Amino acid sequence: MELSYSALREQICDICHKMWQLGWVAANDGNISVKLEDGTFLATPTGISKSFITPEKLVRIDQEGKVLEAMEGYRPSSEIKMHMRCYEEREDVGAVLHAHPPVATGYAVANIPLDEYSMIETVLTLGSIPVTPYGTPSTYEVPDAIAPYLGEHDALLLQNHGALTVGADVVTAYYRMETLELFAKISLNAHLLGGAKEISRENIDRLISMRQGYGVTGRHPGYKKYSDETL
Ligand code: 13P
Repeated sequence: MELSYSALREQICDICHKMWQLGWVAANDGNISVKLEDGTFLATPTGISKSFITPEKLVRIDQEGKVLEAMEGYRPSSEIKMHMRCYEEREDVGAVLHAHPPVATGYAVANIPLDEYSMIETVLTLGSIPVTPYGTPSTYEVPDAIAPYLGEHDALLLQNHGALTVGADVVTAYYRMETLELFAKISLNAHLLGGAKEISRENIDRLISMRQGYGVTGRHPGYKKYSDETL
């Protein structure tokens, strides 16, 4: 069901509040953007806690990042170039979410990709999750670092920084961040218990063939390893 403009603004704020409650963002961390039907975008403003955000604080911008609608003193997220690159690279992307969920970000800081095919749900919905190269926040270094990975991935770890997910809508992008953080927790637990046991190639292929039946959208490689490249 298509949401009204005001319901969409409420939904973005609801997800901002969830991100803060889940401990994925501290202080002003994190940002969300959504593509609107007319090709313009709604984005969270820079420098505001996601716990305090309310619909009127969201900023509407065009694809160059020019502000079309904003409360006085509110500017789009400083990471808007990263968001815009996701929309440029992927016609199917309607929302982008950036946060610092602590366990997934631990992997990003340790430069360890989450590319073990060890948990059914993650194989089905995310595939492998690479660590993209270091980039200084707010500069074109970040979009340039993520661009080569966007064609195949809906979830990325940003080296020394955090995580990024994309989706056709903001709820899908949010669910991917939940799945990413839960998988990071499970992987860490498995590591503490002696290491995850990978699913056989045959069973991975069976899971991949079931994606369509489960209504899994987006892009997720079926068996890509980054560990050897990045460690
Ligand atoms: P903004 O407040 O500009 O969105 O930046 C937050 C952040 O997480 C930077 O990576």
